[in-house]
Amino acid sequence: MSEDLRTQLERLREDAQMRLAAVADAAAVEALRIALLGRSGELTALLHELGSVDANDRAAIGQLANAVHTEVETAIRDRLASLHTAALDERLAAETLDMSAPGRPVRIGHLHPTMTVERDLREIFHAFGFEVFEGPEIETEAMNFEALNIPPDHPSRDLWDTLYVAEPGSDPPRPAEDGTILRTHTSPVQIRAMQALPLPIRVIMPGRCFRYEAVDASHNFEFFQVEGLVVDERTSLADLKGMLEEFARALYGRDTRTRFRPGYYPFTEPSVAFDVSCLVCGGPGCPACGRTGWMTILGAGMVHPSVLRAGGIDPDRYQGYAFGMGLDRIALLRHGIPDLRLLMSADLRFLEQFPGGR
Ligand code: PHE
Repeated sequence: MSEDLRTQLERLREDAQMRLAAVADAAAVEALRIALLGRSGELTALLHELGSVDANDRAAIGQLANAVHTEVETAIRDRLASLHTAALDERLAAETLDMSAPGRPVRIGHLHPTMTVERDLREIFHAFGFEVFEGPEIETEAMNFEALNIPPDHPSRDLWDTLYVAEPGSDPPRPAEDGTILRTHTSPVQIRAMQALPLPIRVIMPGRCFRYEAVDASHNFEFFQVEGLVVDERTSLADLKGMLEEFARALYGRDTRTRFRPGYYPFTEPSVAFDVSCLVCGGPGCPACGRTGWMTILGAGMVHPSVLRAGGIDPDRYQGYAFGMGLDRIALLRHGIPDLRLLMSADLRFLEQFPGGR
């Protein structure tokens, strides 16, 4: 019996070392500690048997049992410590900063293709002595129409399908009583420029516009325009023509041919449509220019006297010319983009194809 207990203690001593060596993490070590030293652990059970050992052997076996107990405890503590060190070493190795590694490239993005067009126009007109003047996207009917010689209920208002801002709380919604709308063109900024700036005036007015459009490949409910305005004491249609011809050549190259056609806008008199030789076929005619060989790129004219008056300017002393053009279509033609809606898609797979502008 006493021999048995001695043997069992010796075996447990060896077993414990092997089992400890085999466990891989702190939780497994703890489980093993409970299995050996816990209240109903294997070594605890052997210790309980000490009482029934022959009195002669008791002291020696008791000593052995104590030694085994201390050994196992120490071995467990050491094993935990070495597991902890190994885990720490592993983390240190994995999280080491390699100070010699090259930096990751910083993605700084680029301008939207429409904004690249806007920037190009700013540069061209800057060279012609134009300043930039900006107005609000949320306008009033008074500025967007009345001040531009478009009376309420006049049929010409149908040229601009308007997005109205609703009167707060109205249900069903009806147009706001103060006439708040989203501007349908940049032309109301002409009035703001005339009211704000000293004469003579020579400005371009870029910005976003909105129309109540059925959206398709060539129409969108939001788009960008650049408006131009010159007011001085001897400004003529010839100045306008010369300016636009130089502009078209600066944008599209020296070989670009141009033409004036009669047009109609309530805020200019006379009004013209300004065409350039087709940007796709160069003249003979193709589907892009409706087989005419020409593309209309902007509307223009001499500022109507009523508009000058709305801007606080005496039309007997001053004259001016104005022009307005869409930027989105310029971007489409420049890059051969087939669908206007792509410009507003915010799709990086599309946008990243036009890294030009910074
Ligand atoms: N505002 C006009 C439009 O959006 C364009 C234009 C501007 C025409 C200035 C003449 C003069 O259609």
